[in-house]
Amino acid sequence: MNILLLGSGGREHAFALKFSQSKNCSKLYIAPGNAGTANCGTNLNFSATDFEAIKKCCIEHKIEMVVVGPEDPLVKGIYDFFLSDESLKHIPVIGPSKAGAQLEGSKDFAKAFMQRHNIPTAAYQTFTKETLADAYRFLESLKPPYVLKADGLAAGKGVVISSSLEEAKKEITEMLTHEKFGSASAKVVIEEFLTGIELSVFILTDGKSYVFLPEAKDYKRIGEGDKGLNTGGMGAVSPVPFAGKEFMRKVEEKIVKPTVDGLRKENIPYKGFIFIGLMAASPPNPLSEGRGGVNPYHDPFVIEYNCRMGDPETEVVLPRIKNDLVELLQAVGEETLSGQKIEVDERTAVTVMMVSGGYPEAYEKGKVISGLEHVKESLVFHAGTGREVKSQKLKVKSEQPEDIHNSNIVTSGGRVLTVTSFGKNISEAASSSYQSISKISFEKMYYRKDIGKDLLEYEKPVTAG
Ligand code: AMP
Ligand code: GLY
Repeated sequence: MNILLLGSGGREHAFALKFSQSKNCSKLYIAPGNAGTANCGTNLNFSATDFEAIKKCCIEHKIEMVVVGPEDPLVKGIYDFFLSDESLKHIPVIGPSKAGAQLEGSKDFAKAFMQRHNIPTAAYQTFTKETLADAYRFLESLKPPYVLKADGLAAGKGVVISSSLEEAKKEITEMLTHEKFGSASAKVVIEEFLTGIELSVFILTDGKSYVFLPEAKDYKRIGEGDKGLNTGGMGAVSPVPFAGKEFMRKVEEKIVKPTVDGLRKENIPYKGFIFIGLMAASPPNPLSEGRGGVNPYHDPFVIEYNCRMGDPETEVVLPRIKNDLVELLQAVGEETLSGQKIEVDERTAVTVMMVSGGYPEAYEKGKVISGLEHVKESLVFHAGTGREVKSQKLKVKSEQPEDIHNSNIVTSGGRVLTVTSFGKNISEAASSSYQSISKISFEKMYYRKDIGKDLLEYEKPVTAG
């Protein structure tokens, strides 16, 4: 079948690579893609939210499935756009309906959904500028730190955690009355602060049944020891050694089943990925069994839902899946997922993100990337890369006409490349990625050297005592 994949990050390169390896994929188009996806299919130069361009492309290239990488097109209703158009409605869109995408598009919707279905999450209340005084009173009733969340999409910046009451009040005033995050902060959720350790769980559902994909842990902060500004993600590890069988059983019973059942009961069409950001509350005991073992000491709470796969989690999750991904997604479209079983590579995968100096604040683009051809032991996924257009110095273009096929690959974003390796454990996989990174260079490149380090203690064998 001919597939159109929407998006342009490392996540989409990981999808594109899996699709290109499938016997069921005839032609693959990626819009807009990057210099990496161009090696797996044909990049098309339009945005993932340009629905009219997407429609034209589907007709022209006889597209038989659309896979949506990022959340924007989903929250804007691409699923419903296809269903309501006579010439497109036969094409399955992998991703939820506009109503389903509200799990990510509105924190208030997600919290109310969890409350309706008894899904464990932090206690919360939602406020608008009319109820600012109530928001102050609610903050006064809580213990620090205070968690404030803009209701809508805010490019990953909408969560503010503040340790002082005064600062929290100032922040919520800015969000509600000065539209700090535009219309995204017209409503603000205030919630209880959860302590514990975070992980990301991924579900693929056809709306009736679901399968678990491998879980992962990502590293959100720019600095080592998870310090400094929030980023899109600086690395990821899969599997997560503290997510033993008993913990994952609780995740399934308390969170995954009620989520999928809740969507169905509320008649919300959902055929796609659900990314559940979880807090394993009260830190697990490192001396109890880790992977595959029993650890009764912690309970999962939902921090957030996303209506798509994570980035860079996808870059460790998809390489571990042995199934033909196109076949799996076809089953989602046809609502036959219950017959599918996920085959997982037991090895550990670690990915390390290489970013432009200055990211997540201002950074330069157009830096030539060298050494990629020397990497043999790892998978290199492109995120912010493009081809240098020689006639117009350092102008970046994701589309690749023949004449620039041999031009330099240059940086075109904050997150540039992510390097994924396998190993028998985290240390082995991480050192393989760092070894590969040492062969790649671009001016002012930066990466964290501690990806996976915090998880090493959970990998230790049991030493009961
Ligand atoms: P988000 O932008 O929704 O991914 O949230 C950013 C980060 O804020 C999460 O990954 C958590 O580390 C943190 N966070 C969000 N909600 C809570 C909470 N209720 N308690 C503690 N940390 C939280
Ligand atoms: N890595 C976190 C995200 O994709 O939202």
